[in-house]
Amino acid sequence: MNDHQPSRHVFRTSQLEEADGPGLNPTKNRTMGEIIAARFSRRGFLKGSMAATAISATVSPMAILAADDAHAQGAVEGSVFNFPEVKAGVDADHHVAEGYDADVLLRWGDKVFADAPDFDPTNQSEAAQERQFGYNNDFVGFIPLDGADDHGLLVVNHEYTNEHLMFPGIVTVKDGEIEVAAATEDRVNIEMAAHGGTVIEIRKVDGKWQPVLDGAMNRRITAKTPMEITGPAAGHARLQTVADPSGKAALGTINNCAGGVTPWGTYIMAEENFHGYFIGELPADHAEARNYERVGVPGANYDWGKYHDRFDISKEPNEPNRFGWIVEVDVNDPTSTPKKRTALGRFKHEGAESALTKDGRVVFYLGDDERFDYVYKFVTAGKYNPDDRAANMDLLDEGTLYVARFDEGGNVEWLPLVHGEGPLTAENGFESQADVLIETRRAADLLEATPMDRPEDIEPNAETGRAYVMLTNNTKREEANAANPRVDNAFGHIVEIVEEGGDLAATKGTWEILVKCGDPSIAEVGATFSTATTEDGWFGMPDNCAVDSDGRLWVSTDGNSPGKTGRTDGLWAMDTEGSARGTSRLFYRVPVGAEMCGPCPTADLTTFFVAVQHPADGGEDWDGHGRPSYYEDLSTRWPDFDDAMPVRPSVVAITKQGGGKIG
Ligand code: FEO
Ligand code: CA
Ligand code: CA
Repeated sequence: MNDHQPSRHVFRTSQLEEADGPGLNPTKNRTMGEIIAARFSRRGFLKGSMAATAISATVSPMAILAADDAHAQGAVEGSVFNFPEVKAGVDADHHVAEGYDADVLLRWGDKVFADAPDFDPTNQSEAAQERQFGYNNDFVGFIPLDGADDHGLLVVNHEYTNEHLMFPGIVTVKDGEIEVAAATEDRVNIEMAAHGGTVIEIRKVDGKWQPVLDGAMNRRITAKTPMEITGPAAGHARLQTVADPSGKAALGTINNCAGGVTPWGTYIMAEENFHGYFIGELPADHAEARNYERVGVPGANYDWGKYHDRFDISKEPNEPNRFGWIVEVDVNDPTSTPKKRTALGRFKHEGAESALTKDGRVVFYLGDDERFDYVYKFVTAGKYNPDDRAANMDLLDEGTLYVARFDEGGNVEWLPLVHGEGPLTAENGFESQADVLIETRRAADLLEATPMDRPEDIEPNAETGRAYVMLTNNTKREEANAANPRVDNAFGHIVEIVEEGGDLAATKGTWEILVKCGDPSIAEVGATFSTATTEDGWFGMPDNCAVDSDGRLWVSTDGNSPGKTGRTDGLWAMDTEGSARGTSRLFYRVPVGAEMCGPCPTADLTTFFVAVQHPADGGEDWDGHGRPSYYEDLSTRWPDFDDAMPVRPSVVAITKQGGGKIG
């Protein structure tokens, strides 16, 4: 994306992947390069349920045939899942396992309020978009109302916008490449309104979910919604701007990727690739130059800075310090001011899934999605009070942020990011805890955290004291380390952390690679799915995940495509226990060009909400299209398949026909 002129660019995840360079971490914390493969055969190191079935690096075609047979007949021995597997592949539609329904619940442009205007893609406006469902749904959370799993609030992040798919008449194709016209002010304001999040009441009527458009708590949050900055960095001089001399009143949230729902029922939005929204230049000797280089500011993916000074760093040099945080929203009051919680650090936050520790504090697992960046967790100082919601509302302002170091021996250590401890002192440019939090990445560099292969979603399991880390890929890795064992890691892997004593508050634990992803029938790929995994069951590029109320792991993906894996992204069920450990099977898959986000099971497991993000963003490598895809020439018009309608990112509700537990 940096190859394009500022006025002629288009933001596509595929380009982010290809063009974001070798990562932004300049440190050499790669002492573990010495121990490449030193612990490849470490299985058996962890005892009990950790001792898994033997998994071969290469699976013979015969084994895959046998596995296919087993799946066709139902359950795999030892598996906690039992459903007929979906056939992997690529086409214009979505597909769910036989016996299930996948119903589109909310599409981009759908009304969030009863008085919202009807969606008209040829005549969109900022005012309309502010009352309608936003673009590119990513995180999905469900907050039950009245304790019921058939009525609640759906909370949905709108991560970013794909202008070439959203707006008519702005694309030209040159040499097979899409070029997008420079944005008008109106277009920028529509884009800003299509970002952020949605809170919407939903209810199951006769077995089917419906939005409740007059829901009292319905709300749109956008890139302009007033926010309060709280915690140790609030009000710091580095967060002050011309528009906000207090350093405590930010406008909007952007690039909200995954997120979370807290035990007290607030909605967490993680600010990920915030760097892309800034344009402009700072002098090389500017006080923030080192800070901004470490996070890639200015990324110049959008034209917002042409019409809004705060997105131009030459006019508002501190504005980027007001993004890259975890945002907490009190959904019970639609007029509440969302809070940017600085205690959880500033980086490219993928998500923030939480659980209780053994003594009743709350832990949040945090991935920083960039090549060679880190895995974090935050443990609150205070305890969760299940009887007093109000008492929990500022738990996120005080606690300890840790970064992970994964050792070759299979141990993990959580290193506290505390001002004054170790190298986090004034000598290294950290005058206070605020500086440590504003430049979290640089603080973690100095603590020699382990550089990872793009940490995405991390899901704890409070019952077992484990956490699952999705590492999506890193084709720029030239030197392996124990927890990132493949150079040129095109397909990613999943690390399972086992916290000491089964307590998620522990500052140490052990870890194991659950699976190295990719096609197991190609020896060079080095994938390690179990031999019970079929040719439909394997995947690449794990991204979001969910641990359901039965403790079962579900993995969704970002980056599978006809050219890379011969399949679209989807939702896979992954066994983690006993003889079936490492077995994966395909439950649902998305239309061409889309990414699978959000997987959100209700607690009673009768509904699975999923988010189909950026459908039709791609199609060059698919026989069914074979050329660039954009508004006037889309690779799919899912979900409406109406020539008058563009493709629309949507949230889908999956239920079992006749009711009952999923999977
Ligand atoms: Fe927005 Fe890291 O995916
Ligand atoms: Ca993601
Ligand atoms: Ca991703």
